[in-house]
Amino acid sequence: MKTIFVTGGAGFIGSAFVRLVLEENADVEIINFDALTYAGNLENLIGLDDARHKFVKGDICVKEEVFAALPENTEAIFNFAAESHVDRSIASASEFVLTNVLGTQVLLDAARAKNVRRFVQISTDEVHGSLPEDDNAFFSETSPIQPNSPYAASKAAAEHFVRAAFETFGVDTITTRCGNNYGPRQFPEKLIPLMISNAMNDEPLPVYGDGRNVRDWIFVEDHARAIWLAYEKGRAGESYNIGARNERQNIEVVKSILDVLGKPHSLIKFVSDRLGHDRRYAIDAAKVETELGWEAQTTWESGLRKTIEWYRANQDWVSRIRNGAYRDYYKNHYGMEIGA
Ligand code: NAD
Ligand code: DAU
Repeated sequence: MKTIFVTGGAGFIGSAFVRLVLEENADVEIINFDALTYAGNLENLIGLDDARHKFVKGDICVKEEVFAALPENTEAIFNFAAESHVDRSIASASEFVLTNVLGTQVLLDAARAKNVRRFVQISTDEVHGSLPEDDNAFFSETSPIQPNSPYAASKAAAEHFVRAAFETFGVDTITTRCGNNYGPRQFPEKLIPLMISNAMNDEPLPVYGDGRNVRDWIFVEDHARAIWLAYEKGRAGESYNIGARNERQNIEVVKSILDVLGKPHSLIKFVSDRLGHDRRYAIDAAKVETELGWEAQTTWESGLRKTIEWYRANQDWVSRIRNGAYRDYYKNHYGMEIGA
């Protein structure tokens, strides 16, 4: 049995990763270490009472908690734990510095102290900043690191500490940088689940600015599979940009959601733009495709349908979130109320 240590495994992508790894690897056991912040949800782990999955509540910023939970000679750490929402980082950045930067360094120290074989840092394409609206410009592994939001700055800083651990101490590191994920169990503060849950409740769909910002969307299971391949086949010290070659303007995404749900476009409400709103993200995935033999398996159309179906079938999951602290966040951020 190989033991892997997954941080942030009760969140959106981490829980999809845990699910996939347990399903596809009978010889792997997982310690799932998560602080259960507003974004962490034990409901995301329902059905995983596999003997190979152990959940530990803990904070990556607290050395004692990490060291107590991490066994000697662990095969790999996968660091998903983070503050992940750009709008929240604009409202208040300190938590992002704490978790995303200090937390990553605590894990790197623990990896050295406990002789962990490989450290996989889950980063983001946002560390590269923004692209012009030009079809020939893409983010590759050699694109400059020039983050624009406090969230992206904290993820870029974390990447630098990962690199430093590799260069200075020879920690075996891999960094992955993916674009925008969508799929089941994504917290409704993010564009796609926010629009799905508002539309299901016939509430306004708040689109920032002119709605023509572009994101490169990937189904969450395709991302999880790419991370696993990067861990298995990636070269130490390297970074891997992950994307499904699926650029869409936000307004197109929102209209597609309304169409699948059979709701009117009149629900769309243009609202003030996000400060420093990056215009376009687009990933050149050549390195993961050629070096790791990865390619996305889910088309945009089928992934979006699966996602909408999941939210339709799991309205209790959505309601519990919309009835909690999210309600206050929403009112404060959008100046509008949401229903249950
Ligand atoms: P999420 O917000 O859904 O989940 C984050 C998880 O981390 C939660 O379970 C939370 O409880 C946990 N966590 C937060 N602070 C912690 C701490 N101090 N100690 C332990 N656990 C803590 O995030 P997500 O969308 O699943 O993103 C996961 C990772 O992937 C993040 O590192 C994010 O930067 C990165 N990423 C996300 C996307 C995307 O589109 N969502 C794209 C590329 C990369
Ligand atoms: O690119 C990867 C990144 O994608 C991840 O690293 C982040 O963790 C993840 O949150 C995501 O960042 P974005 O800022 O791109 O995602 P978000 O869902 O917040 O917004 C997507 C686009 O939709 C963006 O252009 C802003 C716009 N938007 C978002 C919200 C929440 C709206 O128009 N209205 C909204 O209410």
